[in-house]
Amino acid sequence: MSLHTHIVGVGGYLPERILSNETLSTMVDTTDAWIRERTGITQRHILAHDQQTSDLAVEAAKQALDDAGLTIDDIDALIVATTTPDMVFPSTASVVQYKLGGKGFPAWDIQAVCSGFVYGLAQADGMMRGGMFQRVLMIGAESMSRIVDWKDRNTCVLFGDGAGAVVLENREGEGGMIGSVLHCDGSYRQLLMAEHQHNGHEPGKAIDFSMDAAGVAAIEMKGNEVFRVAVSKLGEVVGEVLDKYGLQKSDVDWLVPHQANIRILNATAKKMKMEAGRMVITVDQHANTSSASVPLALNHLYRQGSIQTGQILLLEAFASGFAWGANLIRWSKS
Ligand code: COA
Repeated sequence: MSLHTHIVGVGGYLPERILSNETLSTMVDTTDAWIRERTGITQRHILAHDQQTSDLAVEAAKQALDDAGLTIDDIDALIVATTTPDMVFPSTASVVQYKLGGKGFPAWDIQAVCSGFVYGLAQADGMMRGGMFQRVLMIGAESMSRIVDWKDRNTCVLFGDGAGAVVLENREGEGGMIGSVLHCDGSYRQLLMAEHQHNGHEPGKAIDFSMDAAGVAAIEMKGNEVFRVAVSKLGEVVGEVLDKYGLQKSDVDWLVPHQANIRILNATAKKMKMEAGRMVITVDQHANTSSASVPLALNHLYRQGSIQTGQILLLEAFASGFAWGANLIRWSKS
């Protein structure tokens, strides 16, 4: 029997504070009806003044470790996918390692924006298959509220904060990661970007909804064009990953998409001919949490008790860059 990368623990965390569409409509010229109809979002979670991305990551990681019946001492490597690191450096992963009480093993961040978790899973799987690590803690964590321009109705309605995590284990046994495909095309980079460096956040300091603070990054987006390319590339990548690993659309039991906009999700589900209820939808509850979005969707599905051993999951994401990709997993966690 050969070695495979298995998901042995799953976790997620959403900060307590909820910002509803109704409240947002008192801040910018928008309505609950517009946001629901165009995006499917009803609310988003916003981290507390004294929380940072690493704190969200730690909560998700603790749940994933607990779910796996493991501790941080059992981990060989830690990867955090994030667009909103605590600081420019050190990596958020090193902060998370420290906060979890770990020491010595490698920890690093990866940045592929909303595709960060899908990229990270592919990277960890490759390294584990190569025999480099036995157990990897893979986290996607974001505090998007800190880089959103809260005066821009075109973008501020779309994003939220959160974290999701999985524990990966390289061992013998049926199932686990089947494989991944990843893409990037930097010619699209200016359609969705935050040009300035994220300036971190001082614990205790209120979120700067005024966006007057120098150095704060603000998201700029050509929404229509992003939408069009996202639908097209996601349609292609789901077909590509299935072809690569010799599977049919009908083999996929669960579609676990990046949660950006319900209309993008539905377009991919249609392309996949997914039965109703076989695609995870969480965008309504927490909006676009960037690299946390796919693991949060996975955590939602897992905690519902919906996934049976042996079932096939297709994870996919599309991001600024543009960077996009997909992972196929045969579920092996009982
Ligand atoms: N409330 C009310 N009106 C809004 C609004 C808001 N929050 N945001 C934009 N509008 C207005 C626009 O100003 C525009 O008005 P105009 O026609 O008078 O100029 C109108 O609504 C239509 O805007 P448009 O951009 O055509 O809407 P849309 O149907 O494309 O929806 C998005 C906008 C942003 C929801 C959609 O394009 C989208 O989801 N794009 C992809 C974004 C994404 O997924 N990004 C992350 C990728 S990882």
